[in-house]
Amino acid sequence: MTVVSKADSSRLTTRKLTLAYEERTVVQELDLAIPDGEVTVIVGPNACGKSTTLRALGRLLRPRGGAVLLDGEELAKLPTKRIAQQIGLLPQTPVAPEAITVADLVARGRQPHQAWWKQWSEEDERAVVDAMERTDVAGLAHRSVDELSGGQRQRVWIAMALAQETDLLLLDEPTTYLDIAHQVEVLDLVRRLNRVRGRTVVIVLHDLNQAARYADHLVAMKTGRVVAEGPPAEVVTAELVREVFGLDSVVVPDPVTGSPLVVPGAPWGAERD
Ligand SMILES: Nc1ncnc2c1ncn2[C@@H]1O[C@H](COP(=O)(O)OP(=O)(O)OP(=O)(O)O)[C@@H](O)[C@H]1O
Ligand SMILES: [Mg+2]
Repeated sequence: MTVVSKADSSRLTTRKLTLAYEERTVVQELDLAIPDGEVTVIVGPNACGKSTTLRALGRLLRPRGGAVLLDGEELAKLPTKRIAQQIGLLPQTPVAPEAITVADLVARGRQPHQAWWKQWSEEDERAVVDAMERTDVAGLAHRSVDELSGGQRQRVWIAMALAQETDLLLLDEPTTYLDIAHQVEVLDLVRRLNRVRGRTVVIVLHDLNQAARYADHLVAMKTGRVVAEGPPAEVVTAELVREVFGLDSVVVPDPVTGSPLVVPGAPWGAERD
């Protein structure tokens, strides 16, 4: 395994990226560099533009201005299939085709690797089985996605994104609907994919403490702009939490990992009436 030197290169970047829905500009002139071989976590309040940014990074949304660049080339100008072989995106609210089975949905993750002259291969089968096992959904393979619980369905979507086996993986709130054990399982899985297989991962998370635990690179957004970015130990401070979320908190070392742990509430003696 080659050791990727940290944070000195970025295959995926944005250059003065502006994103808008009709008249509403959501992200303005954003310059972002996703560090190769690292886990980047994006945090920020509801509606600040996290999902919008992630969708643009995965070319689900076209820039209003500026560009997303993959290996220095404008994403908007690259063939869709080539992008899908490099970038996997799990949106915040994916929609499954009606009555599709778990195995069939996960298999769709292999589409970018298919071609009209190529049969479903052992490689495809291995990727699908592997993804289902890693996300603990192999036992659901023949169930219809419609009839799963929210957490089961979320894990199936993650399996589909994993089956795509891309170097870059973008996950929008992958822990939504998951119980605490499955949240940790999914985040550990993402971390392993990064550490063992060298995948570059971008995750949107709401839980600041999980973000601080799992991020190599943390990006804090507010109203479509990056307020702070860097290693969690430098980024996550009471000042930042106040600035970004308008919340008083105390930041202490996480007793397990030593990463910043945000405890909401004013410190003793500093409460407001
Ligand atoms: N399809 C859309 N059409 C119009 N406006 C949209 C659309 N999607 C998002 N928006 C608006 O863009 C802004 C940013 O939304 P976005 O989904 O990027 O926020 P977010 O940071 O992901 O929030 P959350 O934490 O709630 O998921 C919001 O004001 C939202 O209402
Ligand atoms: Mg969102």
